[in-house]
Amino acid sequence: MNQGLAIGKDMETGDPFSIACEKSQRILICGKTGTGKSYTLGVLIEELADIGEDIVLLADPQGIYWAMAQANTSYRETERLWDYDREPRGYRVNVMVPGDPIERYGGEDILFEMERRGIHIQGLRLNPSDLPPEMWCDLFDLDINELMGAAMFKAVRNCWKKLRHDFLLDDIAVEIGKIQTHERTKEALLRKIDMAHDWQIFEETRYREIWEILQPDAINILDLSVLTQSRYGLRNLVVAVLANFIFQVRTVARRREALGLSSDMRKVWFAIDEAHNFCPSGMSTLSKEVLIRWAKEGRQPGLSLIVASQQPAAIDAEILTQCGIRVVHRITSRDDYKAIDALSQDYLSGDLSGRIKLLNGPGQTLVIDDERESIVPVQVRPRQSMHGGGSA
Ligand SMILES: Nc1ncnc2c1ncn2[C@@H]1O[C@H](COP(=O)(O)OP(=O)(O)OP(=O)(O)O)[C@@H](O)[C@H]1O
Ligand SMILES: [Mg+2]
Repeated sequence: MNQGLAIGKDMETGDPFSIACEKSQRILICGKTGTGKSYTLGVLIEELADIGEDIVLLADPQGIYWAMAQANTSYRETERLWDYDREPRGYRVNVMVPGDPIERYGGEDILFEMERRGIHIQGLRLNPSDLPPEMWCDLFDLDINELMGAAMFKAVRNCWKKLRHDFLLDDIAVEIGKIQTHERTKEALLRKIDMAHDWQIFEETRYREIWEILQPDAINILDLSVLTQSRYGLRNLVVAVLANFIFQVRTVARRREALGLSSDMRKVWFAIDEAHNFCPSGMSTLSKEVLIRWAKEGRQPGLSLIVASQQPAAIDAEILTQCGIRVVHRITSRDDYKAIDALSQDYLSGDLSGRIKLLNGPGQTLVIDDERESIVPVQVRPRQSMHGGGSA
């Protein structure tokens, strides 16, 4: 049995402080800009990688976590690691890049240099069949009750009927061509399929199981910084497809485990930095629905979630209310404070805002744990690996 995620020290007693992780968890990390959220997320990831039992997947919108392959070189930080029986070290990282890595990173020499530093890089391509027909409509903002949306839905569904999951963008185009509707509708849809080709995030040759590219013994980093936060929400699309896929695979694995059958699909921790972009309150995105499902129904199949955001108030309430553990760095906005306070349970009587205001300096947090019914001021420990969050 592991000892939990040793993220730092109780600031009042000086005792080591850990977050329980033997069961699946939902964890919120929040705080205003520069207070150490991404750094703390990195500490949690290090702890999970040290335990090495579950698959760790991290959605990285800023492209900063590949630095975890290298040891922390800041002496000011590493000298304090000794207190935690930890050494500076780099981790095995598997960076997944939507599209062609050479093109996305801007040259073969960059890739070569990253590989030389021990960073494993893989291109990630989605299978067109990873998106259910209704998601194809959502992707292009088509209403399924209107001509274009109905034709798109039908074309993808026909691909499914004929080819199961083994179809490509060109197969969708062929099916669009066969649908009985106005020529102009077909042309408009075909232009959208051309656009999807241009995004270079779809498989062009054959069906490939996404599971093949997740590595159980490495930190899997989904580098979303290579995709612009476009009108089509491509970052959200990639997150949605991966989360959907893992949810389905783990649901089957859980059933096998319950029946005593063998299963090699380990439990999964999915961490999302800047999470308000993926499951925002008050608007829909391609990824929001599956993330809500993950948060609400994912415990049974062994799915954990960590969401980090500078604006907790901007995260959908259905996810926020599932976060039984909240790692709160300093916050100053009234809305964000209210969002945290609204989650408070009876045991949290007293002056939460006063305690949050006392937080000062990077890595100072209040850890609120609904299961333990505790609220503990915690100084987050230094990182063993390098934090890539600095600006140039
Ligand atoms: N626990 C810690 N120990 C030592 N230094 C820390 C700690 N946490 C954060 N820092 C320092 O604070 C800086 C900012 O941290 P980080 O990048 O995690 O902020 P953030 O809250 O994610 O900000 P943003 O909202 O802009 O993404 C780091 O570069 C690091 O130098
Ligand atoms: Mg950050």
